[in-house]
Amino acid sequence: MTDLVAVARSLFAEGKGILAADESVHSAVARLADFGIATGPEMRRQFRDLFLNTPGIEQYLSGVILFSETLLEKGNDKKFFPKSLLARGIAPGVKVDLGTEPISASPEELITQGLLDLPERLAEYKKQGAIFTKWRAVIRIDGDTLPSPSALHENAKRLASYAKEVQSAGLVPILEPEVLMEGKHSRARARAVIEETMQTVFSVLEEHSVDRASIIVKTSMALSGRESRKRDTPEEVAEETVAALLASVPRQVAGIAFLSGGQTPEQATANLSAITKRAREAGAPWPLTFSYARALQEEALMIWKGNEENVPAARAAFRARLTAVSAALAE
Ligand code: 13P
Repeated sequence: MTDLVAVARSLFAEGKGILAADESVHSAVARLADFGIATGPEMRRQFRDLFLNTPGIEQYLSGVILFSETLLEKGNDKKFFPKSLLARGIAPGVKVDLGTEPISASPEELITQGLLDLPERLAEYKKQGAIFTKWRAVIRIDGDTLPSPSALHENAKRLASYAKEVQSAGLVPILEPEVLMEGKHSRARARAVIEETMQTVFSVLEEHSVDRASIIVKTSMALSGRESRKRDTPEEVAEETVAALLASVPRQVAGIAFLSGGQTPEQATANLSAITKRAREAGAPWPLTFSYARALQEEALMIWKGNEENVPAARAAFRARLTAVSAALAE
């Protein structure tokens, strides 16, 4: 039987983190379009190849979260992506939620879909090489009114059911209740919502008897809302983020990974560095790492523009960002 705790812990190997390359077809198309890159299945495959086949990434990455489509695709080297990652010591994971939809009783809030046929899909993903999984819930802040207690509770229930299914399928679950940066809220409000979200998630996990030791928590940082126009210093972000997590995440979890959530690559790096330092000072019990999508890929996409001749320069930018983010873990 797979030692799930060992697999989960291995994703927190020293100086290494996780690349979230799991944009759904819809998100990948939008992301490529943002950079003026043509879309379509072959361009998406090239997009994945750009990052997953950058030489040397195994120095910085313990795992990569893939979208289900990528599990079945081959890189330009004609090797299946999951197999080729594994051969380089990088664990392949997969996003298993099927995206969000508005909650009928509170249409400004979202609930994540994908539980119905989850056991069947997990069996397939496992056969295709996945060893860990991710489920993203989306929590929206609006002043003091959102998130509503029922949206928090329903999202937490689904995260717990997901975690239970994934563990019984012999895979590691990453639980990602993302508290969005969008809004005018203060950093203190973001901190309170992260804390309340995690407390709700862990109380529901307890009710469902989910094993905490083999789960990974993926979280936002406590930042002032994007529309608040407040610029937080890395130390301010670190102070609030670490305080929120210490107050809500049990010591037994395998570790905590941060998402970048629309921060610039520089911000996501500086904030991670300050968080690592603050967590160490505060004696935080869990290992920490990054699990970024946008902050790791943005600079490379800007250079690549979908052109073959730009691949070496784009990969150099990706490697440079990986080097900086990995160094941030050593603060
Ligand atoms: P970002 O780092 O771009 O927020 O993406 C992380 C992720 O996995 C979102 O689900």
